[in-house]
Amino acid sequence: MKISSKPGPLMAPLPTIMVSSGDMENSNILTIAWSGIINSDPPMTYVSIKKSRFSHDIIEKNGEFVINLTTTELAKAMDFCGVKSGRDIDKFSHLGLTREEGDIVKAPMIAEAPVNLECKVTEIKSFPSHDMFIAEIVAVHIDDKYVDEKGAYDYGKMDLVAFNHGKYYRLRREEIGFFGYSIMKPKTAKRRRKK
Ligand SMILES: Cc1cc2nc3c(=O)[nH]c(=O)nc-3n(C[C@H](O)[C@H](O)[C@H](O)COP(=O)(O)O)c2cc1C
Repeated sequence: MKISSKPGPLMAPLPTIMVSSGDMENSNILTIAWSGIINSDPPMTYVSIKKSRFSHDIIEKNGEFVINLTTTELAKAMDFCGVKSGRDIDKFSHLGLTREEGDIVKAPMIAEAPVNLECKVTEIKSFPSHDMFIAEIVAVHIDDKYVDEKGAYDYGKMDLVAFNHGKYYRLRREEIGFFGYSIMKPKTAKRRRKK
């Protein structure tokens, strides 16, 4: 039996990304769970930000931001960036995070994050509680620790964090399948077992 609940944004798991904005001198970070991918070519994403957030106006003015993926090691910093405002504190300095220059956008990347996605805003859609910043991913940086000799990325090794109804969970290296495994041919299964 299932109970019916009041309609709410009860989607899970969600990402816990650290979104950096501003420039190398004046920068900020806020934590975002309401984000996702909306197009593959060009690669496009969105972040939904409340109008009251300090980051909201910075991103609206500059039209760019960086998505930094969060690892277990960064989880406390990620939580802090989601409860303290850049109006009152320089979160980069307070947390001892390193600002790293991107290739295209002025917003600094977080050097300690395993993946940085430089994003340029293409459209802002206003909703009653949040503004949705739709953006193109214009450059991607991945720590070479997670790239093998064939150039494949191993996200399983990153120990990323997911937001699951108010709590943070590790995405540890316990693979339970892969894209398309439900219909793989016995030949493919054999080849993969050999690896
Ligand atoms: C796990 C987590 C997820 C969050 N997701 C969002 C979000 O999707 N959108 C949003 O506007 N605020 C979100 N917040 C709240 C902001 O990160 C928080 O209000 C932050 O202090 C704003 O920082 P700023 O004022 O420096 O921009 C989230 C906070 C946490 C801890």
